[in-house]
Amino acid sequence: MKIVSGMRPTGKLHLGHYLGVIKNWLDYQNSNECMFFVADWHALTNKYTDTKELQQNIIELVKDWFACGIDPNKSTVFVQSAVKEHSELALLLGMITPKSWLELNPSYKDLKFNLFFQYVRDFIYGKGLKISEDVIRDIVHKAFYHKKDIDFEGLEEDLLKIGLDSENIKEIIFNIKDGEIGKEIDTFGFFGYPVLMAADILIYKAEGVPVGEDQLPHIEITRELARRFNRFYGEVFLEPKAILTQTPKILGIDGRKMSKSYNNAIYLSESKEEVSKKVMSMKTDPQRIKKTDPGRPEICNVFTYHNIFTDRGVVSQIDSKCRQAQIGCVECKKILAESLNSFLEPIREKRENISDSQVKDILLEGNRKAREKAVKTMEEVRKAMNLWQE
Ligand code: TRP
Repeated sequence: MKIVSGMRPTGKLHLGHYLGVIKNWLDYQNSNECMFFVADWHALTNKYTDTKELQQNIIELVKDWFACGIDPNKSTVFVQSAVKEHSELALLLGMITPKSWLELNPSYKDLKFNLFFQYVRDFIYGKGLKISEDVIRDIVHKAFYHKKDIDFEGLEEDLLKIGLDSENIKEIIFNIKDGEIGKEIDTFGFFGYPVLMAADILIYKAEGVPVGEDQLPHIEITRELARRFNRFYGEVFLEPKAILTQTPKILGIDGRKMSKSYNNAIYLSESKEEVSKKVMSMKTDPQRIKKTDPGRPEICNVFTYHNIFTDRGVVSQIDSKCRQAQIGCVECKKILAESLNSFLEPIREKRENISDSQVKDILLEGNRKAREKAVKTMEEVRKAMNLWQE
């Protein structure tokens, strides 16, 4: 099967990325024709003011891929912006994309929600108030997903309840109403995100696109665009299928979703010491206060990690010992730090042995291979659409 998938260069990869994305890519590359690319143009859709780190982020991302075993001899690894044909196709697909398809796209609303939430959270923390992030998120969520419009009255009421004074609340609401918050994604580029993504996929006539659940609406738009194009101009594109894979969900060290912004992630490139330190600080079963209290592995985040990274036999021993209060959390975590480090060691080692210039050389070749395919499709596209030919 022809597979295309991309990732935005937003920083170093953590265990969540490994289990959720990279592990699948590794499986696919052995028996499929895979194209993996850095979606650097997509990174610009919401982060366009500061581009200083863009180039280095691309290199670091690809280093992480190679360190994990993505093999440029098996898969084509390239950079989106190096294959300009993506942008030509995006422009042409834009011509046939009804605005309503983009307006209805749920990820647009979700991103906006996140920006509102972050604003309110930072405002509250800026005032020195100690309110849990989850509480703030719930409040903003309730108001934001109210009906068509934000429920400002409800927001005001809830913020009063958690101890904000009305002056502060007024300021928050004023800034949101003013359109200042979330303005950064009110751009043509962000709005057209799914069209660019459709171009990335259709230009290689991909059959399968491994993505996370959050990306499904984009694949749906991609399929609809393929059908629409073919209906107007003749059969050029294939309708790709989303490949949703079952992946073990891994939480951050604090028990929330693993994410850079929560500062709770374990990175693939992290040192042995850093990994151990993070593991030792992980939250465990809150009801297990003393070592003599029996634990409940089924609700313990450390145990979830064991299930993924520790040998089966050891896992079942930990399971029963924890339930019988025969092993303490410290000892249990030490074992986990060891398993994690033996998983990460070869990745770390490989990463250290890849230089920036090696990455660039490999990308040069990958870009060339990708371009060759993209150019061919674009010739078909221009012909089908009766565009100017020299
Ligand atoms: N939107 C994807 C993400 O943020 C990245 C991406 C861009 C992508 N183009 C793609 C993924 C094409 C698969 C296929 O994760």
